[in-house]
Amino acid sequence: MRLKDKVAIVTGSARGLGKAYALRLADEGAKIVVAAIRDPEVTVKEIEGRGGTAIAVYTDVSSEKSTLEMAEKTIKTFGKIDILINNAAIMLKSPTKTPVMQPSDQITVEEWDSVMRVNVKGVWLCIKAVMPQMKRQGKGKIINISSTVFFAGAPLVLHYVVSKAAVIGITRAMARELGDYGINVNCIAPGFTYSETIIEAVDAGEFGELPNLIVATQCFKRREQPSDLLGAIVFFASEESDFITGQTLVVDGGSIMH
Ligand SMILES: NC(=O)c1ccc[n+]([C@@H]2O[C@H](COP(=O)([O-])OP(=O)(O)OC[C@H]3O[C@@H](n4cnc5c(N)ncnc54)[C@H](O)[C@@H]3O)[C@@H](O)[C@H]2O)c1
Repeated sequence: MRLKDKVAIVTGSARGLGKAYALRLADEGAKIVVAAIRDPEVTVKEIEGRGGTAIAVYTDVSSEKSTLEMAEKTIKTFGKIDILINNAAIMLKSPTKTPVMQPSDQITVEEWDSVMRVNVKGVWLCIKAVMPQMKRQGKGKIINISSTVFFAGAPLVLHYVVSKAAVIGITRAMARELGDYGINVNCIAPGFTYSETIIEAVDAGEFGELPNLIVATQCFKRREQPSDLLGAIVFFASEESDFITGQTLVVDGGSIMH
């Protein structure tokens, strides 16, 4: 129970990695705000079934009105905001169901903008929404989610790579801005991790040989699982990381070393 009575907002936590983060934070004693654009109740029910506390808040991270409501509902229900996990993102499919993976000269301006709107502006808007409360508290933990695609310079996902580079930029700039308020801003860069979205794409053959090639670059030669990320999440959310800020921790079985 390293996070007993802490209040954590996890964006994009109705499924996938966000859901895994929400469940683990709840198991560590945190009260969870499941901030998701659809079906947040699913994760809430699962947390309650495990004896935890959670609320569902429909949230579109790309809308300032929605992110402000997310923060307001959290404060109204739980009285504070200790942790924000900026997990929501467009990864493999845009809202129009267009595959995100394609050569950069085939990415339309609309697709580029939709990835930036969620993956970059969404991260900033969520931080902007929780900042006043965290400043009043004189502490807070913000954890952004980047990706190893930035370090690897992965091809065929230019807008996604750029968006995840921006997340590291936001992490560093916001860490400097918020240090005087006792607020930590850190970042986790997962490798190729078998969330539902990735499993569906791998099963559909969308990545060809890539999954095996990635494993071959790792020190630990097995596929990365959502559970592999949970230690880093709890560490950055807990007091154990109080003197660490502006950092990006790569969790990928030792493929990228930066
Ligand atoms: N799975 C991987 O291999 C991997 C690797 C590196 C980084 N990541 C990052 O981890 C995070 C989660 O990945 P995942 O594999 O669970 O992918 P995912 O696509 O299943 O999860 C993304 C979530 O964000 C939500 N979302 C999208 N637009 C939103 C919006 N406007 N407002 C609120 N929510 C919105 C989606 O509904 C979805 O639940 C993402 O930030 C992704 O970029 C994933």
